Amino acid sequence: MQLQDILYSQGFGTRRVCAGLIQQGFVSLDDGAVTDAAMEVEAAGLRFRVQGVEWPYHERAYLMLHKPAGTECSQKPSTYPSIYTLLPAPLRQRPQKGPVQGVQAVGRLDQDTTGLLLLTDDGKFIHRMSSPRHHVPKVYEVTAKHPIDEAQVQKLLQGVVLDDDPKPVRAAACEAVGEHHLRLTLTEGKYHQVKRMLAAVGNRVEALHRSQIGALVLPPALLPGQWCWLSAEDLAKISG
Ligand code: URA
Repeated sequence: MQLQDILYSQGFGTRRVCAGLIQQGFVSLDDGAVTDAAMEVEAAGLRFRVQGVEWPYHERAYLMLHKPAGTECSQKPSTYPSIYTLLPAPLRQRPQKGPVQGVQAVGRLDQDTTGLLLLTDDGKFIHRMSSPRHHVPKVYEVTAKHPIDEAQVQKLLQGVVLDDDPKPVRAAACEAVGEHHLRLTLTEGKYHQVKRMLAAVGNRVEALHRSQIGALVLPPALLPGQWCWLSAEDLAKISG
């Protein structure tokens, strides 16, 4: 693949901008700076540097972000900063075949919810992960306003009715891990589902954190606001 096409595919700008970056000596490979924009390079496994910053080539981008509180999962946020401002420009600019550009969040978390959020530029992956038939369990750590009792845990496991749907929604797993700390596993993702389920059993969510999707656990070293690429093993953990 030509080096200029590689840069373009990774979100470094239009083909012209990418060619310019190379011709001006801003791009280097293992052997040093290169200036031939049309140079043929093996893309798989390539690590290149643009203005000194190393970038690993990824045909498709799959990432995890530790979403901090006070951020919106929208490209056009209404009140709080967008999570997309936490990502480097190339990830936001990656060309995509569909109508949207760059990586997109796989589902959404509320502005005050923290924790594990996946992002990708693979539309099929988003579709698959968001499909109701694809029951990937998601684990939430809930800080509840009122003490959690066994009756609440049982109701959440048996199913509660939310206002917009007569069909009860139930937790796949539910465990009180502290007087005010509940660990709840859901396999679906309705709007404000955890908050509405807690309200339905007479409690209230004070803080909400997503700690796990499938077998993928948010790494403790990934601090709020930080992101990292997903490895092949990480992907296997969520694809089931
Ligand atoms: N359920 C909620 O209520 N909010 C979230 O952000 C995620 C799940």
